[in-house]
Amino acid sequence: MPEADKQRQAFQFYGRRKGRPLRKGRQFLFDELLPRITIPLTPGVALDPATLFAPKKHAVWLEIGFGGGEHLAHQAANHPDIGFLGCEVFDGGIASCLSHIDERKLDNVRIHPEDARKLLAVLEPRSVERVFLLFPDPWHKRRHAQRRFVNPGNLDRLAALMRAGGELRIASDDPIYQEWTLRHVPVHPAFQWTALSPADWLERPADAVETRYEKKARAAGRVPMFFRFLRR
Ligand SMILES: C[S@@+](CC[C@H](N)C(=O)[O-])C[C@H]1O[C@@H](n2cnc3c(N)ncnc32)[C@H](O)[C@@H]1O
Repeated sequence: MPEADKQRQAFQFYGRRKGRPLRKGRQFLFDELLPRITIPLTPGVALDPATLFAPKKHAVWLEIGFGGGEHLAHQAANHPDIGFLGCEVFDGGIASCLSHIDERKLDNVRIHPEDARKLLAVLEPRSVERVFLLFPDPWHKRRHAQRRFVNPGNLDRLAALMRAGGELRIASDDPIYQEWTLRHVPVHPAFQWTALSPADWLERPADAVETRYEKKARAAGRVPMFFRFLRR
């Protein structure tokens, strides 16, 4: 089977990629800035993400499904010594993230404007210290459960590419996904849930900002939870 067909089959994607046409300024950033900070990927060829940043950074952190990019930009601005990888498939979200990068003049963010699983497949073992998965699409119907990003295959990949002592942060406002996360992550041999009291999962970590999705969830009366797992 040709490589392109194999990729399509392995990374079937069910979410939304295209929104309304981009405004002129955002289209400009899409055309000019994005190609300069897009992570170059060759399927099947390992990538050491440290090589994407010069001068060399202390560590690499990854955000999967960054939405509008407000959290990614906030972390990148507060940690100039860290290299950030951000993955998002929705063009409106990518464009919004590019505006944050441009406005805040961030030079420590690289973007994978594609399915995160393609990046996870090539990142070198133990190359990433921290991973954020904030409000992943819940796919709350039982028949769609296999689409959830938290699943044994993706957890194996994350375990392989994360460094021991690193942190996996998962936030969700969906009770089904919250339970699903706690049913899958702490039982994985590589991850340990670090919470000691309810404040540890009911309060957003102090170094994070509210994302667009979290704001909507709170406005609708849902209760976000923030799970932090240690990579053993
Ligand atoms: C519910 S939204 C949350 C966005 C953002 N994290 C926030 O909190 O506002 C989930 C996001 O994940 C993105 N997404 C879903 N699956 C993805 C994948 N396989 N690779 C990259 N992004 C993905 C979607 O496009 C969407 O923007």
